[in-house]
Order: sequence, then C-alpha cells, then structure tokens
Amino acid sequence: MPRLDDRLKLVAAQIERSIHADIGSDHGHLLAALLASGRIRRGIAVENKLQPYRNSTATLSALNAEVRLGDGLEVLHEKEVESLSICGMGGQSIVQILSQHPERLPDEMILQPNKAIDLVRRWALNHGYWLIDEQSTSGSRRFEVLRLQRSTAIPDPIYQRLETIHLNESLGLIFGPWFLLRRDEDLRQRLTAEQTYLQSKPKLTAASRERMKAIEQVLCNVHFRSR
Ligand SMILES: C[S@@+](CC[C@H](N)C(=O)[O-])C[C@H]1O[C@@H](n2cnc3c(N)ncnc32)[C@H](O)[C@@H]1O
Repeated sequence: MPRLDDRLKLVAAQIERSIHADIGSDHGHLLAALLASGRIRRGIAVENKLQPYRNSTATLSALNAEVRLGDGLEVLHEKEVESLSICGMGGQSIVQILSQHPERLPDEMILQPNKAIDLVRRWALNHGYWLIDEQSTSGSRRFEVLRLQRSTAIPDPIYQRLETIHLNESLGLIFGPWFLLRRDEDLRQRLTAEQTYLQSKPKLTAASRERMKAIEQVLCNVHFRSR
C-alpha cells in the first residue's frame, strides 16, 4: 500500500465521511490509503488526463473505488459523495473546478491549494461554506489544508472573530483566519522573514507593496504567543 507524504497525511486526517471523491487523483495514493485504513468505505477518483487516470486505476483496482476520466465535477452526480478533496493544484484551478457544478458539491470539502490560497478562502466565504479548520505541514515546504463545511445559515463567523485580535476579514483571507487566531510564534517568524526579504528588494511591485502592508498590519496588531 502506498505511503502518504506529510502533505497527503494531513489531508487524509481531515476526511471523516465514508463516501469520498478525490478530484485530480493522479497516482491514486490518497484514496488507496483512506480505503486501506478503513477511514472511508468507498472512493471515487477523478482524473482529466490519461496517464494519471491509468495510474489511479492500477493503484485502486483491488479496492472499493471507481476511477473516472473527466473534468472535475463533470463526472460526479449530485449527492453521490459525502465529501471531496482537491489537492496539489493552484487556488485558481481549484476555484474553477468548484464553480463549474455547484449543485454537485458535497457538504464537506478538504482543499489543499499550493498557491493563491486566498482565492479558495474567498470562494468559500461567498458560496455558503464555512472554513471550519486550517492546518499546515511543518518542514522545508509548508502546505496548507483547508476544511470546508456547507452552512447556509449565516456568513462564516470565523472572520468576525478576527476583530478580537484587531484584524479584519481581508487579512484573514490572505493569511488564514485560524492561523491568525492561533497567534503562533511560527507565524510571527514566517511573516518577519518575508518582511525582511521584501525590505531587501530595491523595488517592489504593487502586489508586493500590498503584501508588505498586510504583513505589517499583522505584526503590529497581533500579540503572538511565545513558545
Ligand atoms: C499536481 S497533481 C496533484 C495530485 C494529487 N492530488 C496530489 O495532491 O498529490 C494534479 C492532478 O490533477 C489533475 N487535474 C487537473 N485538473 C483537473 C480537472 N479539472 N479534473 C480532473 N483532474 C484534474 C492532473 O491531471 C493531475 O494529475
């Protein structure tokens, strides 16, 4: 059985429903590990490219899983799965997949964008999903895993909680409301390192200037917990 790296282990640990779809399954390792450990009962892997589709089919052949060749949610039916994951893609691609068939989305989603994570948080906020947890890997490359749950009641209250630490929704979308509310020393160190890096550049783009301003706001307002 394939062993998962820390990134996919973190994703797997967030999956709690028994019928799960993995969109962009590639090697199929995530579903294989979930099925082998009994964490899920049935899996659906979706791939839009032939070789990864074949790889997933080979990995999952002896397990209670189906592999489908198609574009994102195109090959899933409404209410067919209880949860889904999309991992290892940019935020823009993830949002594009989520936006194509909103009626086919399950109540629980675990998303691991490699970049443009703010786009995924904004999508969730605008489409009736609460961000119920955020976790990250430690180690040389940091990956963030977002856990979303549908709630049509009111907008996600997590962003309001940021007021208690003198921050606002837009900073929450950029840095992650849960990461900010935890006020870990680790976050302070990462932001300070990025600030030093940006300060060392002779000229900043408009986007880098915005980023710098956002970092300063967090570093000035948040009282970080010491280790
Ligand atoms: C970078 S890999 C990540 C694989 C795996 N999810 C992981 O995190 O290790 C992205 C995979 O998603 C597939 N993919 C990209 N866009 C897709 C889409 N719209 N529908 C289905 N699969 C897609 C690609 O073919 C590729 O195999």
